[in-house]
Amino acid sequence: MAGRDADDPGSAPTKLWGGRFQQATDPVVERFSASVSFDRALARYDIRGSIAHARMLAATGLITPADRKAIVAGLEQIGADIEAGRFAFQDRLEDIHMNVESALRDRIGEAAGRLHTGRSRNDQVATDLTLYLLDACRSAEAGLRQLRGVVLERAREHVDTVLPGYTHLQRAQPVRLAHHWLAYFEMWTRDAERFRDLRGRLDRAPLGSGALAGSTLPLDREQTARELGFVGPSRNSMDSVGSRDGALEFLSAAAICMIHLSRISEELVIWSSSEFGFVELADAYSTGSSLMPQKKNPDVPELVRGKTGRVVGNLMTLLTVVKGLPLTYNRDLQEDKEPVFDSARTLGDCLDVTAGALATLRVGRERMAAAASDPMLLATDLAEALVREDVPFREAHEVVGKLVAHCVEGGLDLGALSKEELRRFHPAFPAGAPELLDVERALEERDLPGGTARARVEEALGEAAARLANEEEDAE
Ligand code: ARG
Repeated sequence: MAGRDADDPGSAPTKLWGGRFQQATDPVVERFSASVSFDRALARYDIRGSIAHARMLAATGLITPADRKAIVAGLEQIGADIEAGRFAFQDRLEDIHMNVESALRDRIGEAAGRLHTGRSRNDQVATDLTLYLLDACRSAEAGLRQLRGVVLERAREHVDTVLPGYTHLQRAQPVRLAHHWLAYFEMWTRDAERFRDLRGRLDRAPLGSGALAGSTLPLDREQTARELGFVGPSRNSMDSVGSRDGALEFLSAAAICMIHLSRISEELVIWSSSEFGFVELADAYSTGSSLMPQKKNPDVPELVRGKTGRVVGNLMTLLTVVKGLPLTYNRDLQEDKEPVFDSARTLGDCLDVTAGALATLRVGRERMAAAASDPMLLATDLAEALVREDVPFREAHEVVGKLVAHCVEGGLDLGALSKEELRRFHPAFPAGAPELLDVERALEERDLPGGTARARVEEALGEAAARLANEEEDAE
C-alpha cells in the first residue's frame, strides 16, 4: 500500500488492459510483479513469435495486409533497437510482452492494437520460453562439443601417462590418464544427448492456445508453428500454457552436467595440491593470494564446483514453484525464468572455462607414475595370478590380504617378494612378485571392452573422435 489511501481511486489509471480497472496499480505491486528486468532475455523470441502471429492473422484475413506490414516492420525495428541496446525498457509496462507491444503502438499507432488478436500472454510466454530453451540446448551442446574436443585431445596425448585410479580416494589400480579422461568424455556425451533429446520434446508450438482454452477466431496454428520451426501446434491448449516440464528438464540436464563439471573440478583442485602434484593449472587459469606470495590457487575449478550449487538450486526452485499449481497458468510461473536464464548462462561459462583449464594444464607425468608404481596397486593382479592357477577367488583374496598385512607390518616391499616367500602364503604362486607384478603388464592385461589396455584405449579414442566428428557435421 505504501502510503496510499485505499479509497482514493488515484490518478488516471495507467492500466495496460484497460476497461476493468479503475485504480492504478500500487507502485509497490508494480515493482513486485514486474519481470522485464529479466524477461527481456526473451525479446528476440517474443518478436519472432509476434511476427509469425501477425503473418498468420493476415493470411487468415483477421488483419489487413497493410496492418501486417506495419506490425512486422515495427517489430523488426524494435528488435533491432533491443539488440543494439537502444531500447528503454519500462518496469511500469510489467514484462517484455507489454514493453514490445507498447513500443509498437508508439511507432505504428492504432494497428498495434490488432497484434494481440487471438493471443494471450500465456501462450505467448510459453512459446517464447520454448524457443529460448531450444537455443539454450543448442548452445549447451556446442559448449559440450568444444569441451569434449579438448578432453579428447588431452587424452590422446596421455595414453602412456599412468596414474593410480582411485576408489574412496584410495589408490586402487593403475590406469592410463587417457582412460581416466575418456570417462569424462562419456559423461559429457550423455549430457549432450540429454539436451538433444529434450529438443525433440520441445517440438510443438504453444501459440494459438490462447489463455488456456484456445480461441473462437479462425487462427491457423499450423502456419505459426511451421514458421517458428516447430513440427506442429501443441496438442492440448491447457497443457501448453500450464506446463513447465520442458524448463524442468533443461534445468535438470544442466544440473547433471554441472555435477560432472564439479567432479572434474574437484579432481583438478586435489591434483594441483603439493600433496598430489599431478597437474599444474596454467597461470591464465589460476590466481594468486593477496597475502601469501607463494600461492597459486585453483580458483577456476573451485568456482565451477561452487557454481554447481546454484544450478542445482535452480532446479529445486522451479520444481517447487510448479509443485502445487492447479491447471492452468498461474502467475507463479513467472518465476520459471530467472532459474532458467541463470542455469543457461552459468553452464555456458563453466563449460568454457573448464575447456580452457583442461586445454592449458600441465601434466606431472613423473608424479603420476611414482604414485602408480606403488606395488600395492597390483595386489588384485597377485590374487588373479592365483585364480589362473585354479585357486578360488575368495581364497586368493584372503591369501593376498594376508600378504599385504605381512608387508605393512614388516615394512616390506610387496613387489620384491620372491617365489619362495609368496609360496609360504600359498603353494600355487607360479613365480615371484617381480615377475608377476609389473605396471605395464597390469595395464595391458586389462584388455576387456572398456578397459585400460592400450588397444582398448586407442579404440575408445578413435570411437570418441568419430562420434564427435559426426555431431559436428550434424550441427552445421
Ligand atoms: N510475465 C508473465 C509470465 O512470465 C507473462 C504471462 C502473464 N500472464 C498473465 N495471465 N498475467 O508468466
